[in-house]
Amino acid sequence: MGNKVVITYGTYDMLHIGHLNILKHAKTLGDYLIVGVTDENYDRSRGKLNVSQSTQERVKAIEALDFVDKVIVETHKKQKAEDMIKYKVDIFAIGDDWIGAFDYLNKFTRVEYLPRTEGISSTKLRKESFDTIKLGMVGLGHDVQAFIDEAKYVSNISINRIYSRNFTAVKRFTKNNKQIKYGHDNYDEFLDTSISAVYIDTSLNEHYILIKKALLAGKHVLCENPLAITKTELKELLFLAKKQHKVLLSALKTAFLPAFNQLLKELDSGIIGKIKEVRATKTSLYKEKNYSDAFIEQGATNLLSSYPSLLVNKILGRPKNITFFDQYENGYDTSNLIITTHKNGAIGISNVATGFKSEGDATISGTKGYIYIPAPWWLTKTFYVRFEDTHKSYTFSYELEGCGLRYMIAEFSSLIQRGNSKSEMLSPIDMIAVNRVLLEYCECKQKNKKRKSN
Ligand code: CTP
Repeated sequence: MGNKVVITYGTYDMLHIGHLNILKHAKTLGDYLIVGVTDENYDRSRGKLNVSQSTQERVKAIEALDFVDKVIVETHKKQKAEDMIKYKVDIFAIGDDWIGAFDYLNKFTRVEYLPRTEGISSTKLRKESFDTIKLGMVGLGHDVQAFIDEAKYVSNISINRIYSRNFTAVKRFTKNNKQIKYGHDNYDEFLDTSISAVYIDTSLNEHYILIKKALLAGKHVLCENPLAITKTELKELLFLAKKQHKVLLSALKTAFLPAFNQLLKELDSGIIGKIKEVRATKTSLYKEKNYSDAFIEQGATNLLSSYPSLLVNKILGRPKNITFFDQYENGYDTSNLIITTHKNGAIGISNVATGFKSEGDATISGTKGYIYIPAPWWLTKTFYVRFEDTHKSYTFSYELEGCGLRYMIAEFSSLIQRGNSKSEMLSPIDMIAVNRVLLEYCECKQKNKKRKSN
């Protein structure tokens, strides 16, 4: 290292002249320049939802600058203070749009706010480079209003159209919602408009046909899980999306939460050793929330099991064997305790219920320690990493803005913008694995029904 160490941080999305000016200026203040590039997960947790390039792409762009001596990735809020000590930093430099915000670092180093270049920003470039995604709402499910509200935080999405086959309900909705100007009760006509993407929130048995039609009409699709109720249909839809070069994503919001993705990273690094068991519970007394009987009769497994399955599959991989312990009342399952076995004998325990209420927490147990996620674990914010020696235990907290839907909408929009149809957070393989449990249960019930009627 040279004598005087200078450090600076930023997202550096779509590297532009403003970035180059400030980095060059920072370098003139010392001998050795370290640049901290924000991790996309960290960016999302601090509300920056529209970054168009991946962390890797942004790091590469900064590494290519010959006057930059070292590039690091910034993953959490407290890191700046840690870096000042770790790299023996003499000067912390940052644009004057941040004036005052980093004064607290003066106790570690000298903080300098440098003049920003006028008239350019990544936000401006993104606006100029990418078209606004016109998204149409399909169905009048329970998440429709929350989705419209949360989409406002993702700057390049606009929503002003809705479809439902219930004409009266559509009319009522558009009357009460100023933003949604156009209501349709004819799906083909709705798909024929200028929308480029749809969000589907209808009853489960309608998903398959609605997705298929949308993909065939060239629209990107975000749909509540499960996308289909047989394995063949699910595979057909994923194949069709690939063929059409369109994004098809399950609306499993947990998969896109910053803390959930951080949890997976921590586990990958082996902090709790070899993972032996994953337990997760999700229950809801929909009756008390005045959901319709038709909704509840879709069954606890269909309605809830995707979430625990997501956690189990992301951590342990696809199941080898699945055993169900369901409670069946009035023709549908009101609960299901699902036990899956995985590679190396690891076990997944997913507990779902609509007929009783239980603690919605999750525990991941390993050979060195365990991670506990308090209820509601599917809105992951905080998790505890615990060891036999309690002094070594620590807590991990990430911000979660709104009801969590915005992170999923941001991923959907950035996949469309990047022309990338596969999400790393929820890939087609993940979607098949997550749905394996549910589809196996459906098929097993259908077979039983047939057997009985014969
Ligand atoms: N910066 C600058 N002049 C600009 C834009 C950015 O000096 N016109 C500086 C910022 O002050 C910061 C660094 O470049 O020190 C990285 O900023 P970043 O937030 O990545 O860039 P922006 O273009 O401001 O990004 P966005 O529009 O997404 O906020």
